[in-house]
Amino acid sequence: MKRIAVLTSGGDAPGMNAAIRAVVRTGVHYGMEVYGVSLGYEGLINGKIALLGTREVGGIIQRGGTILGSARSLEFKTEAGQRKAIRNLNQMGIDGLVVIGGNGSQAGSHALSKQGFPVVGVASTIDNDLFGSDITIGVDTALNIALEAIDRLKTTASSHQRAFLVEVMGRDCGYLTLMAGIAGGAEYVVIPEVDVDPEEIAARLAKSYDRGKEHAIVVVAEGAKYNASKLDEYFQTHRERLGFDLRMTILGHVQRGGNPGAFDRILASKLGAAAVETLRRGEHGVLVGQIRNEIKTTSLDIVASTKKPLDLNLVELARILD
Ligand code: F6P
Repeated sequence: MKRIAVLTSGGDAPGMNAAIRAVVRTGVHYGMEVYGVSLGYEGLINGKIALLGTREVGGIIQRGGTILGSARSLEFKTEAGQRKAIRNLNQMGIDGLVVIGGNGSQAGSHALSKQGFPVVGVASTIDNDLFGSDITIGVDTALNIALEAIDRLKTTASSHQRAFLVEVMGRDCGYLTLMAGIAGGAEYVVIPEVDVDPEEIAARLAKSYDRGKEHAIVVVAEGAKYNASKLDEYFQTHRERLGFDLRMTILGHVQRGGNPGAFDRILASKLGAAAVETLRRGEHGVLVGQIRNEIKTTSLDIVASTKKPLDLNLVELARILD
């Protein structure tokens, strides 16, 4: 393999730049030409593909976001769009593609692979909902950003003896919320995987106050049936009866925008380099991820058809430690 391309797709994640850098520098190390595709699959369809040298990826390891840009492409979901993308790659003599992204992006890799183009995916999403990697690029940094917010909210919550709802991203996966709840010492976590009754939360918070706590933090996943806005509405409606003052904070995209920490920079460097090694040894149609602390490949067929399980024992832990 002499000429490869790399793209970032879907929601950006801190560490994507470190992965791009690793792909480019590993490729160059092995005498390959490495091309960068702008704006994900959209750029692949529109031929936005340019040669990247080691200098072009200098000074980016510490930067959040992605220098290549990212997009969610509707056209690429069609077979016509996928054929257009493959035509562009073939015309440029590119014989391998690295796709850095999460579930939607790796569904795209899977589609390209099924059409016969050699693709290797790199596991990257703050949601940590991608099968084939215990932890994905961006999770650790996003989690630390959520924690910083929770720690700050606890301070002001204690001063005012208030309860706070903090909404954390993660689409329909509760991983980030659960981990932020445990690491942030939250009084309650609300995740999509576990049904919850607002009255139970209220009773729990009342008990916390009875135990002499000065604050109560409820960490809520954006994908939960009762997300922060719905819980806020419920608690405001029943405020008199429930008897505590409540505020809501939605972290939203703040969580995605940070500079990657050491963990994500290292993970991204390992996975980016491994993606190139994988293509080089002629293996493709796979996702490169970290499983039990080792870099492993998993078939995109399996990745696309398997839901990553969430360890629900940790919900119990969060309850015990509240
Ligand atoms: O998949 C990453 C993610 O940040 C999710 O946590 C969130 O639900 C979604 O992307 C937001 O998407 P967008 O950036 O397109 O609003």
